[in-house]
Amino acid sequence: MSRLRPRTLRGQLTLGLVVLLAVIFAGVGIGTTALLRGFLVTRLDQQLTAAGPRYAQSLEHGLEQNNMDADTRGQTLGTFGARAAGGVITQVGVINGTSLTGDDTGQVRLSPADTRAVLSLPLDGSPHTVRLSALGEYRLRSVPGLDSDVLVTGLPMSQVSETVRELATAEIALFAGAVVVAALGGAAWVRLALRPLDRVATTAERVSTLSLASGEVALEVRVPDADRGDEVGRVGASLNRMLGHVENALARRQSVERRLRDFAADAGHELRTPLAAVRGHAELVLRRGGELPDDARHALTRIEAESRRMGTIVDDLLLLARLDAGRPLASEEVDLTLLVLNAVDDARAADHDESDIGESATRHEWRLDLPTDPVTVPGDPHRLAQAVANFVTNARVHTPAGTLITVGISVDADKVRLAVQDSGPGLAPDLAERAFDRFTRGDPARSRGSGSTGLGLAITRAVAEAHGGGVTVRSKPGRTVFELVLPRTPPSEK
Ligand SMILES: Nc1ncnc2c1ncn2[C@@H]1O[C@H](COP(=O)(O)OP(=O)(O)OP(=O)(O)O)[C@@H](O)[C@H]1O
Ligand SMILES: [Mg+2]
Repeated sequence: MSRLRPRTLRGQLTLGLVVLLAVIFAGVGIGTTALLRGFLVTRLDQQLTAAGPRYAQSLEHGLEQNNMDADTRGQTLGTFGARAAGGVITQVGVINGTSLTGDDTGQVRLSPADTRAVLSLPLDGSPHTVRLSALGEYRLRSVPGLDSDVLVTGLPMSQVSETVRELATAEIALFAGAVVVAALGGAAWVRLALRPLDRVATTAERVSTLSLASGEVALEVRVPDADRGDEVGRVGASLNRMLGHVENALARRQSVERRLRDFAADAGHELRTPLAAVRGHAELVLRRGGELPDDARHALTRIEAESRRMGTIVDDLLLLARLDAGRPLASEEVDLTLLVLNAVDDARAADHDESDIGESATRHEWRLDLPTDPVTVPGDPHRLAQAVANFVTNARVHTPAGTLITVGISVDADKVRLAVQDSGPGLAPDLAERAFDRFTRGDPARSRGSGSTGLGLAITRAVAEAHGGGVTVRSKPGRTVFELVLPRTPPSEK
């Protein structure tokens, strides 16, 4: 059943209308034909009663010569007469005039079944419908004759049936036409009546395509003419009210976000000066105080190192707050190839320093996969350098010695992809999902000691998004790929 149901409300309403009309018309059709038939049969019965058994009675005297001696005066064509005596039909005839029976004499041959039906009629003179095999349907009435015989007179039903059939045919044609007109007119009307609902749906669809997750949200779409008093108007007005609430809530959320960002930026900014002072004093004392006891020197070294680290964290947080606020970045042609070469150079040098301190074999294997021509993208050179360095440093810091690290650039029609691939143990799936969130670290307990804060990838993502690009990570043991995608044209020129 549900498969037969039209998909649109418009279709369902039209179908409902058509089915309802068809049922009503069928009822009216059946009722009128039944009434007409009843009326015509009553008239036929009156005629039959008025004619009386005269023809049947006269059959006794003549049928032989073309019905000549039978009393047919004033009788209707097709009048049937039969006379029975002693349970047997002795004479039977029909007034033909034309060759109604195919026999000019007016004699009729009744089949045994016809005979039984005629003889079984009650003698009270009430008319009954009987189907005679030779003549078709007849209204027959039977009365006792004078000399203890039975006289049966009948009139044909053919005209009644004909009239009823004609009415039925006319009604079917008329009603079918009316149903077609109602279907077409109804569909047009329903379409017109539901047009405001279309507007509600369009508005809802437009809202559903808006990105409401973050940032400044202008929720200006509204259902037009929602002040109609009908149901559709109410739905539209409710939707508009709901959009108003959502807009307020979004505006409030946005102002909270902005206050939070401002707070982070202000706090970062305020922390920089005292931090620099702490570090400066520690450095000063260390450089001057030759006769410092060992434990005091150690404490000052720690103070200096930690305040330096804290300075980096504060800088990172400030940068993130700035990127969140959507502050405009510098925009110039940046040579991405050069950035990669520098980042890998730095990483190699750091690798070298570390391996000099520890065992000689603790080095990574570096490989470059760059196009021959320099690849440039529009953007902020310092931020992009930071983004690339974060990927490259991670590949060095979070993989064991001997890992192969490949840094490659590929150019699409409108995008540049920078991929840093390593053959290290990779990230666990749940870590990979959160890798670009702030303060996400693989092993917090261990990495805090090693100077890891978990802000590197968050910064890379924020920088990529500020350039209209994005970042991805795919990781399994032995193959981890971090990818940075940047558009080749500035986002504003698209
Ligand atoms: N190439 C990699 N292989 C394995 N794990 C990685 C790799 N790159 C990143 N990770 C994991 O993702 C985590 C988040 O990296 P992210 O750069 O954001 O922070 P971090 O390196 O720990 O600290 P920092 O802020 O100093 O960069 C890391 O702690 C590390 O566990
Ligand atoms: Mg990192």
